[in-house]
Amino acid sequence: MDALASSPLGWLCAGVAALFGVAVLWVAKRSPVEKVEVLVWSLLPASLGLLCAAALGAGGGLVVCAITLLSSVYLGGRALLPVGDRAVLITGSDTGIGHALAKYLDDLGFVVFAGVLNKDGPGAEELRRTCSQRLSLLQLDITNATQIKEAYLKVLEKVQNTGLWGVVNNAGILGFPADSELLPMSMYRQCMEVNFFGAVAVSKAFLPLLRKSQGRLVNMSSMAGGIPLPRYAAYGASKAALSMFSGVMRQELSKWGIKVAVIHPSGFQTGIQGTSDLWDKQEKELMENLPADTREDYGEEYLLGLKSYLLHVPMYCDADLSPVLSAILHALLAKRPHGLYTPGKGAYMTLCIFCYFPLWFYDFFIRKMLMS
Ligand SMILES: NC(=O)c1ccc[n+]([C@@H]2O[C@H](COP(=O)([O-])OP(=O)(O)OC[C@H]3O[C@@H](n4cnc5c(N)ncnc54)[C@H](OP(=O)(O)O)[C@@H]3O)[C@@H](O)[C@H]2O)c1
Ligand SMILES: *[C@@H]1O[C@H](CO)[C@@H](O)[C@H](O)[C@H]1NC(C)=O
Ligand SMILES: *[C@@H]1O[C@H](CO)[C@@H](O)[C@H](O)[C@H]1NC(C)=O
Repeated sequence: MDALASSPLGWLCAGVAALFGVAVLWVAKRSPVEKVEVLVWSLLPASLGLLCAAALGAGGGLVVCAITLLSSVYLGGRALLPVGDRAVLITGSDTGIGHALAKYLDDLGFVVFAGVLNKDGPGAEELRRTCSQRLSLLQLDITNATQIKEAYLKVLEKVQNTGLWGVVNNAGILGFPADSELLPMSMYRQCMEVNFFGAVAVSKAFLPLLRKSQGRLVNMSSMAGGIPLPRYAAYGASKAALSMFSGVMRQELSKWGIKVAVIHPSGFQTGIQGTSDLWDKQEKELMENLPADTREDYGEEYLLGLKSYLLHVPMYCDADLSPVLSAILHALLAKRPHGLYTPGKGAYMTLCIFCYFPLWFYDFFIRKMLMS
């Protein structure tokens, strides 16, 4: 044994096991894996670890075994529950992430309740046309108490036997991103109304059903809800409120067996980037509410630049929504879902810089990032 510890074979084994462990973790991090895969992934490093233990002797073997064991436990947490006949409610399924999620979950066999802002709109029509019979459309403006109540009664009627497994609070609005001082009060109120109060009202209404199933609550917050970003005061503040509530809920609801996750995506191409017409309208509202001296201080050129900046935003956004969709799937089905998911380019890194570096460095980093 001791002779082997200094032999090339022992070190080769250790190297292979370590590389393997890193590769497995990397793969697991990228995509939620299926149960069978987890078994294979964890058995292989474990047996490699044992081989190393034999080759390296007690000390080295122990370390290798511990590492492989930890990665197996970690992977076990990534195992997904079966879809079965689980039912999930999604708000804001007209367009974007909610729309894609409704199709994705329907495809996987979930019983989907797709809440839409407009039941006769093109988004709802498309879901009706392309999805299975399991999917039900619900007229659901999350700022309207009557509609929430009606949606609740419809869901209750359909899930009497099976219960409701998950609620995804996805509906949200961006408003017009501009300097905090320039944004009209109405913009702050609108963002809070939909992004925060709407999500609270929906969660409160459906919690009794989730309690019965010991299910999952998923809140779509945003990268801008976890870190300060220039021009996102109204949107970011409403999303920060949502994230904080999610955190408190996660602590409070664990006693009922309900797991709460919050998603902080970075930029993805969806309806939220708006259209030229919408920005025209919002810009007009902003300008009308601006006192003359503020307008002078900022200057016409800067104010007009706000809109052209917005028209460029989609270029920096990812057209592939799958990182967000797999994060939500993991939040819904993993045995041990994470409290926070950060899908998308830069979402995790910027959060880390905000959390672990001095604020002056974070501000400097964001300035540089937004200028490039
Ligand atoms: N895309 C991103 O880069 C990104 C990044 C971070 C976070 N998010 C968050 O992800 C979520 C989904 O956004 P998205 O990007 O998919 O944008 P989206 O395409 O605009 O989708 C949002 C959906 O919510 C609906 N909605 C708006 N107000 C509503 C209300 N009062 N009641 C019910 N539904 C309402 C919208 O309907 P209409 O289309 O009819 O208005 C739309 O279908 C949002 O919460 C957003 O803040 C997105
Ligand atoms: C709320 O929804 C109900 C039922 O769809 C509708 O009659 C009512 O006008 C809505 N209220 C508001 C304020 O939009
Ligand atoms: C989501 O946030 C709402 C309000 O923020 C809260 O009531 C709800 O319990 C949270 N659930 C989740 C999904 O966090």
